[in-house]
Amino acid sequence: MSEFDYHPVATDREIKLDPSQVIMSKTDPKGIIEYANDYFMEICGYEEYELMGKPHNIIRHPDMPKIVFKLLWERLHKGENIHALVKNLAKDGRYYWVLTNFETKYDDEGNIISHYARRKAAPGNAIYQIEKLYKTLLAIEKNQSPETAEKYFYGLLEEKGMTYDQFILDLLNINEKGVKSYFYNTAPKADQNTSKKRGLFKRMFS
Ligand SMILES: Cc1cc2nc3c(=O)[nH]c(=O)nc-3n(C[C@H](O)[C@H](O)[C@H](O)COP(=O)(O)O)c2cc1C
Repeated sequence: MSEFDYHPVATDREIKLDPSQVIMSKTDPKGIIEYANDYFMEICGYEEYELMGKPHNIIRHPDMPKIVFKLLWERLHKGENIHALVKNLAKDGRYYWVLTNFETKYDDEGNIISHYARRKAAPGNAIYQIEKLYKTLLAIEKNQSPETAEKYFYGLLEEKGMTYDQFILDLLNINEKGVKSYFYNTAPKADQNTSKKRGLFKRMFS
């Protein structure tokens, strides 16, 4: 088996994230990784050379239903953000839950040149609830079909009168303004090192 084929076996062990840290990556328009910050590598356990040039599904967890990524890509192709709750898989098989925030960059002709993802630790109560939904979607996908799972997913959102993001923010009990500060106003003043890093990332990603 070449290193490229390596795929970890998922375990039930969780990686506890530092809620003050941001996990960042940048990809080309097709989701090929071009940059990952130190915390990204620390958490997923891959070295820089193992990540660069690889598809972002290198950290895809088998518990994630397809429909979430379908929706994510529909949004990204349109240059739209999506606040998704995602379970990711580390190199050693452990998992970690994140809340996502995306930004798309364009060239002068309006073509997408990169996608930037920021992720932060997701609160436990939201994970508990989304996990139930994802398990249902996955079971429908496996026992029926991805199309049936998709119909169920959109039926549920329609019943709630919400988009996926609204549903997620509702679980988190925050609004659009709250979620923005969740991602951008978190530097603990006392931690010089973290602030310095964040200053750098802010310049890179703004
Ligand atoms: C900027 C960016 C960040 C992404 N971050 C993640 C991530 O953290 N976890 C994940 O499973 N997929 C992430 N994806 C989506 C993957 O590209 C991929 O669609 C997903 O892992 C599902 O894999 P599949 O399309 O092979 O089924 C990201 C995509 C982009 C463009």
